[in-house]
Amino acid sequence: MKILCNEKSQVLAGKTALATGLELVATDFKKFPDGELYLKTGKTDEETVIISSVTDSDSFIQTLLLADACEDSEVTLVLPYMGYARQDKRFNEGEAISARAIARALSEGVSRVYTINTHETDNLSFFRVPAEDLSLAPYMGEYIKTLGLDDPLILAPDAGAAVFAKSVAEKVHFDCDHLSKTRHSGTEVTMQPKELDASGRSVVIVDDIISTGGTLATASKMLMMQGAVSVHAACVHGVFSGGGYAKLYSAGVKSIVSSDTIESASSRISAAECIKNAVLS
Ligand code: R5P
Repeated sequence: MKILCNEKSQVLAGKTALATGLELVATDFKKFPDGELYLKTGKTDEETVIISSVTDSDSFIQTLLLADACEDSEVTLVLPYMGYARQDKRFNEGEAISARAIARALSEGVSRVYTINTHETDNLSFFRVPAEDLSLAPYMGEYIKTLGLDDPLILAPDAGAAVFAKSVAEKVHFDCDHLSKTRHSGTEVTMQPKELDASGRSVVIVDDIISTGGTLATASKMLMMQGAVSVHAACVHGVFSGGGYAKLYSAGVKSIVSSDTIESASSRISAAECIKNAVLS
């Protein structure tokens, strides 16, 4: 079994190769003057693991091309970040169900798929091959432990992320809750922990995705007003679009961590061990 990766997942693929002892096969990537992509991989094996986050159009095309290049191999596709997963329904007539379109296209030429904390696990049924979602929640809990915070409170920014927050907190025995929103008027909304009191505590807000940072920045400001000692942010997929980092720091967040499903300066939690456990099982 060998490993291949697209350009967006080179560091994670390297770490996975080290963790598994499998060979990471180098690939040449090129872009033609008209913008079309080309790639050529080294020699693959009977079984190949493609580690390939889809964060934009080029990384999506590279994922398709990698699967095509491995046509004589049995391919396991690992999508550390599956972009387009948030449009998982048709909210208005005429809309594309983007998650379905991406999943169907990426099923071509592969035998199984692993996603990691994908936005909505119902999306797994859109793949035309067996698909499973892996979770970095326990790794996030272990990372938060290394921050050395005194009795931290793990908070989900909304009820939808509460299950994720619970699985981050439970193995490391931290308290956990989620924020609930109260609308006071058309413009005034407050957020506070549903059950617990954040006052006097170090809080870590955890979410699957930080995109613009808007959700966590608002939550952070509210928690500081409620007397939190410090607020930290942790997510699996750090998209950080539109000035996301600056928005969080200016809202008073003391530290930001994400995983390497999207490689960035804040990628201090690695998905490599989690991928290793899945592909070698
Ligand atoms: C939403 O359902 C997700 O779990 C995140 O809460 C959301 O994507 C965060 O977006 P932003 O960082 O732009 O507020």
